[in-house]
Amino acid sequence: MNLGTNYLGLELKNPLVHSASPLTKKLSNLHRLEKAGVSAIVMHSLFEEQIEEEGMMLDRILSEGADSFGEASSFIPDYNVVPVGADDHLAHLSRAASEIGIPIIASLNGSSLGGWVDYAARIEATGVAALELNLYNVPSDPDVPASEIEAGYIDVVRAVCSSTSLPVAVKISPFLTAPAHFARQVVSAGAKGLVLFNRFYQPDIDLETLEVVPNLKLSHSDELRLPLRWTALLSGRIPADIAVTGGVHTGDDLIKSMLCGAKVGMMTSAVLAHGFDCIPTVLERLRHWMAENDYSSVEEMCGAMRSDHVGDPSAYERANYMKVLGSYSG
Ligand SMILES: Cc1cc2nc3c(=O)[nH]c(=O)nc-3n(C[C@H](O)[C@H](O)[C@H](O)COP(=O)(O)O)c2cc1C
Repeated sequence: MNLGTNYLGLELKNPLVHSASPLTKKLSNLHRLEKAGVSAIVMHSLFEEQIEEEGMMLDRILSEGADSFGEASSFIPDYNVVPVGADDHLAHLSRAASEIGIPIIASLNGSSLGGWVDYAARIEATGVAALELNLYNVPSDPDVPASEIEAGYIDVVRAVCSSTSLPVAVKISPFLTAPAHFARQVVSAGAKGLVLFNRFYQPDIDLETLEVVPNLKLSHSDELRLPLRWTALLSGRIPADIAVTGGVHTGDDLIKSMLCGAKVGMMTSAVLAHGFDCIPTVLERLRHWMAENDYSSVEEMCGAMRSDHVGDPSAYERANYMKVLGSYSG
């Protein structure tokens, strides 16, 4: 049985990838992920703020002396495993790329054009196999229209893609006016892959302290429905490899992702919640299901349920809406 898949030009031994998570900060975890059976690992992100802040600190030190170093920015999290600096991040990527036997995909995270995009070239020099660009942004200014915001994102994609020869996948938001059109623009700007979708973390209110507090909740399988639908709608229409992220917890979740047209399914929350052992369990279920359903390769499965391959493509679109409402049985 052939579980192999080609994602971003990389020949992967199976379609299960570990997406960016805090686990990737430790080299020992990368070894454990590899041993558990994932076919590639996306590293935790190097953030626009991290790079820009480091540059500003350096400027301040040069112009005002080392005392100004104390004003370190508070929005950068306390990275207690790997130091926060961009150079340390690059050194970690180099070690990962040379020590780990499966492809390492670096992640750059930002949303506005700036000097940080040059890090794509520096990341390439670490020996990683590909780059994921995470366009995480909360466009809250009522004066800025969607067209302007999206044009800004595309400028970033173009700048990153033109500063590296690595294949680039872009992790996009589901909250776009026209996701299909945006996805096509991302690909026209040079991306080889689309990662569906960025998961937006909503802050909470602490009623004791009356503060806005971050509150990260891990995902669950139900969240898969959103990337699944869009994978089914976009695969076959947009010339890009699609990765599903958000809600892949079980073998069934991975199988559904492949059937809708994804080249890989990515898994983070399940590993954080249940440990590395859930990885072989997911792969075993995939093998079992393929055998039961007479599939000899993942390639054959890929896209079998995408929108232009199912009897009723409207099941993925608005026409399904009334049926869904009517299907509630209380
Ligand atoms: C604690 C934590 C840290 C994460 N860090 C990153 C990151 O650095 N960059 C990134 O693109 N995504 C990051 N993610 C998002 C995951 O890569 C993934 O897209 C998301 O968790 C949805 O997948 P899941 O349902 O398998 O968890 C993080 C997720 C978690 C839970």
